[in-house]
Amino acid sequence: MQINQQTGDTNFPLSKMEAPIFKVLAETAEKTNTEIYVIGGFVRDLYLDRPSKDIDVVVLGNGIAFAEKVGQKLKTNVSVFKNFGTAMLKHSDLEVEFVGARKESYRANSRKPIVEDGTLEDDQLRRDFTINALAISLNPSSFGKVVDPFNGLEDLEDKLIRTPLDPVVTFSDDPLRMMRAIRFASQLHFKIDQMAVDAIKSQKERIKIVSKERISDELNKIILSKKPSIGFNYLFDTGLLELIFPQMAKLYGVDVIKGRAHKDNFYHTLEVLDNICETTDDLWLRWAAILHDIAKPATKRFEEGHGWTFHGHEDRGARMVPQIFAQLKLPLNEKMKFVQKLVLLHLRPIVLAQDIVTDSAVRRLLFEAGEDIDSLMLLCNADITTKNEYKIKKYRNNFELVKQKLKDVEERDQLRNWQPPISGNDIMETFGLSAGKEVGILKNAIREAILEGDIPNSYKEAFDYMLQKAKELGLNRV
Ligand code: CTP
Repeated sequence: MQINQQTGDTNFPLSKMEAPIFKVLAETAEKTNTEIYVIGGFVRDLYLDRPSKDIDVVVLGNGIAFAEKVGQKLKTNVSVFKNFGTAMLKHSDLEVEFVGARKESYRANSRKPIVEDGTLEDDQLRRDFTINALAISLNPSSFGKVVDPFNGLEDLEDKLIRTPLDPVVTFSDDPLRMMRAIRFASQLHFKIDQMAVDAIKSQKERIKIVSKERISDELNKIILSKKPSIGFNYLFDTGLLELIFPQMAKLYGVDVIKGRAHKDNFYHTLEVLDNICETTDDLWLRWAAILHDIAKPATKRFEEGHGWTFHGHEDRGARMVPQIFAQLKLPLNEKMKFVQKLVLLHLRPIVLAQDIVTDSAVRRLLFEAGEDIDSLMLLCNADITTKNEYKIKKYRNNFELVKQKLKDVEERDQLRNWQPPISGNDIMETFGLSAGKEVGILKNAIREAILEGDIPNSYKEAFDYMLQKAKELGLNRV
């Protein structure tokens, strides 16, 4: 345990303040007779022992002028953002941002505050959470002294997200902070103070003044956290999810007819999401977990004598993906296509696992999943959330069987990224055809024969098969 000599605080990670940049900052502060503090996320992460490359420095005076002095000393370029009153420089792998201490007030229709010069405490008070309002002095007479007017250190200890001001004011001023509170809770495994939770509930409609891109940035950070269900539970319980991503909120709930209930698809989805997070950091695979059952509410039926069904939810879900991505301003590129493909195919391996596994079924799956087969298998594995020990054992055993078969068939037939050995062009050249129905029929017949295992996956066998099929269609070689 380390002890801060100035304040007597324990657990003070002073060693991280030994980076040469802090010495330069302190010297410049002394020389220019300026009071400066490192503040915000860097200080928080220092205590939490999280890596952090962004250092925010608050200057009691002109932040840009001070940055330029530091730049001169380091002989390094300073980027100045006049409109924001900030300046930034890079030093080894660190980014240092300078800003004058400020006081902020907000208007009702904008996240942009009216800014005026302020004291250190004004500057701390304008910040979102007590754990983000901690400051450490970089001034030679008090170097390393922690300035903590709102008990942020205690909140770090108690793992609590709390606002310095009345949370209704903090969230109403800048509604993005509602998402940030939930994101920090999810990333740090913290609780949100009850007053702040209540304030999010009362201010949730204010999220509408925040741009979709900013909301999705925070949402993606929640999804990339170790246990995203923490964040999603807060989003749902506060009513924010209903506003920003209603399709997901609709998964919540259980219907009972004739004493038969289906599982709650919201909590099932969260379980699948947490499960997949144990095996991958890939944001898009995590998105596939979120969306895999997204069409269950739309396809839900109660069938007499059978119970609850969700026929076609994989197909309908895949068709919902582009619209959800567009609505959330997520990229409409190959990432979206990847998610769509996984949603469409998510039942396939598990169906295989429940049935007798034939080579042709495995071959078809490999053909359709292509290079995404490993991601699909991870998703399916994460989707096994039954609590029935017998079923788990059975599924997992069968699943291993499917995996082995996939490996065998792939090694033998090399179907990943597979293209049938005879192309449409080959067909047209062989029979002197132009593009049309016959070409499609022949191409399809060859692909089916290979996938069914009627012929091997080789050019020669496929060519002979094509000749035979062409004869049946009355086509002659040219
Ligand atoms: N801040 C704030 N309100 C916001 C955004 C930021 O009060 N809506 C303050 C907080 O004091 C925060 C600091 O500005 O610590 C820096 O913000 P930012 O770099 O966005 O976040 P970090 O806290 O550094 O965390 P992360 O890097 O994980 O986003």
